[in-house]
Amino acid sequence: RVEFGEKFLLLPGMVDIHVHMREPGLEYKEDWGSGSRAAVKGGVTMVVDMPNNVPPANNCSVLQEKLQRASARSLVDFAFYAGFNPLVEELERCRGLFVGFKLYPEDLYSPGARNVFSYASRYGLPVVVHAENPSLFRESKLHSDARPPEAEESAVKHALMLSRESNAWLHVTHLSTSGALMSVLEAKVTPGGRVTFDVTPHHCLLSDELYRGEKRGIAVVNPPLRPEGERASIYTSLRNMLPDAIVTDHAPHRIEEKTSEKPSPGFPGLETALHLLFREILEGRLGLEVLELYSRRPARLLGVKKGVLGEGFEGDVVVVSKEEWVVRGEDFESKAKYSPFEGWRLPTKTYAVYIRGEPVYIAGQFMTSKGGRLAVPRG
Ligand code: DOR
Ligand code: ZN
Ligand code: ZN
Repeated sequence: RVEFGEKFLLLPGMVDIHVHMREPGLEYKEDWGSGSRAAVKGGVTMVVDMPNNVPPANNCSVLQEKLQRASARSLVDFAFYAGFNPLVEELERCRGLFVGFKLYPEDLYSPGARNVFSYASRYGLPVVVHAENPSLFRESKLHSDARPPEAEESAVKHALMLSRESNAWLHVTHLSTSGALMSVLEAKVTPGGRVTFDVTPHHCLLSDELYRGEKRGIAVVNPPLRPEGERASIYTSLRNMLPDAIVTDHAPHRIEEKTSEKPSPGFPGLETALHLLFREILEGRLGLEVLELYSRRPARLLGVKKGVLGEGFEGDVVVVSKEEWVVRGEDFESKAKYSPFEGWRLPTKTYAVYIRGEPVYIAGQFMTSKGGRLAVPRG
């Protein structure tokens, strides 16, 4: 049983290692101000930002620009992934600016992927992979049929092969099928190489049933929400604490892009993840320890440290209150004011957030409008 005392529970700040803050280039979808307020509202004190910016963050000058933008406007601490660059050595002079590489489906199948894996292996950095084999996509009205489970299973096998070849660390992000889960778990117990993976709240809690209803466009995301059996497998892996992390894949788009004929994939997740997890915890389906996967474990996984406070996370604290609310996109801090969880009743709220000991949010009020810092690689 989880004891809230009178009403409050003190937790470490959450760490979300897969978010899209959209700067530079797509500020109309999100920016560091709105995105980091969304993080704070969700009890998140540190994020790792994805490189699919415009232009892409696959070189030092864009990574430098990202550092400047986030330093000026983020409330939460942050780190970056570098995007796919076949001339990966170009990134040598800004090695301290990224904590790993991110490869999208097309990157994984391009010849330069091998260069990225071998460079990453040299420095012990993770290659974070969005695993879906584009050659297995097909025409279908139903989003989950257009990008079937086999596409993920196939791409995970391919990524495991690349990582074994170069002895690099593969991190499969937003893993969403039982077949891919089996391959990853098998690789985890196979000597040599290293593989880790994360799961999202949406792949654990929602199924492709949503693509048959009114939230169809809102629920479009890649990898897609899966048939019920796949969802249940991923959720069960979480019940058994098998993933190395939970991530939101916070991927905001403008509402017009979501309700169009061809909806942009992704939706905001930062403001709901922790409290969705509390719904599972307080209803007895998950143990409180699952929150480790959204805080200490991902922080240690990426080996980042912050400031001067020992390991760097001791001053990062969230106070959660036992207070029911209903998810309403219109109330979000994110510029993306919709959610596939719209209307869900959640049992807890973020009451206060402290970062490196400084108050950032208390009782519905933001105490500052900046202060986030780059989390640097450990050692
Ligand atoms: O749903 C998704 N949204 N999947 C991706 O791989 C990209 C992301 C985005 O940037 O919107
Ligand atoms: Zn992705
Ligand atoms: Zn993503």
